[in-house]
Amino acid sequence: MNFPMHNQDTFWDFYWETRLLPMQNLGKRAAILSASRLIRRLAQNTHHPLRLLELGCGEGQVIGTLLDAHSQLCDVARSVGVDYKPASLANCQRDYPRMRCIQGDFTDPALLASLGQFDVVMLVNALHEVFSDCYSSALGEIDVPMGKQAVKQAFAQAVGCVRPRGWVVLFDGLDVPGDSNQSITIRFRSEQARRDFKLFAAQYQPFRITYQSTPNPLVVILSQRDFTRYITKSIFLGKQLWQSEQLESYQYFTEDEFRAMFDEQQAGISEYRPLTVNAEKWQRVVEILTPGVAFPHEHILMVAQK
Ligand SMILES: C[S@@+](CC[C@H](N)C(=O)[O-])C[C@H]1O[C@@H](n2cnc3c(N)ncnc32)[C@H](O)[C@@H]1O
Repeated sequence: MNFPMHNQDTFWDFYWETRLLPMQNLGKRAAILSASRLIRRLAQNTHHPLRLLELGCGEGQVIGTLLDAHSQLCDVARSVGVDYKPASLANCQRDYPRMRCIQGDFTDPALLASLGQFDVVMLVNALHEVFSDCYSSALGEIDVPMGKQAVKQAFAQAVGCVRPRGWVVLFDGLDVPGDSNQSITIRFRSEQARRDFKLFAAQYQPFRITYQSTPNPLVVILSQRDFTRYITKSIFLGKQLWQSEQLESYQYFTEDEFRAMFDEQQAGISEYRPLTVNAEKWQRVVEILTPGVAFPHEHILMVAQK
């Protein structure tokens, strides 16, 4: 039976609300919801089952979940997840046995060229790792021009896997616009938060974090850029995940840079959504004392057509 579109939307709203409960506070939830809408819309005008590709699929929480939900609209067996971490990929294959999992580096042009073309290509929380991989021990931080170039190149190759008129979905961290070196004053809400910040500043590898102490031990002055780096990592401080999180910068492009990268690949942006997923958690650890400065958007969701 064919239901009218608005009834289907209501069904899917309910489905995802239940299915994505464990991902309630994760940004990738927004990427899944957006990709699901795209897949449903696309399936109406496409006369073949849709092929999905996720680069940096990890354990498959994004592509696997979408294929489970839309198995009738997608060519599950010819949809592909690529990741270079064998352990993550093994879990992906275990949880989603019908899709194809390929272990490899998605920045390798030969690997991507071997995959063929897809209706939807997804990069969810993946490109910031390409940027972070450009850490230079000589510089003692990420080689920014090299990192940005690596991201652009990886994105261009990803778009190369999109069939003509196909789509790309990107979700990742977002850098602060404008003069991000401008200083702001912040106050930690507890001694613990202050200690965690000290740990962050000492151990965060991608960039050197600088700040100025004040007579009030809970108040410090730092650049907006370093503040953004801190709050986007604050939820991991003191947790096991900090071991890997301390090596990665979520911030690599501002909104203008993302838009320019899409323009360069002639990918027409149909959705551009800056998101602040964790503001509530941040407010529990720190407050901004500088008037007129708000918590930044931390993530970006972009959907574009080739
Ligand atoms: C933060 S995880 C996100 C996983 C998944 N997209 C999700 O949102 O659930 C990023 C993943 O990208 C993978 N990755 C990063 N750079 C990669 C590369 N150059 N080639 C293959 N995989 C890569 C990592 O191994 C990791 O599993």
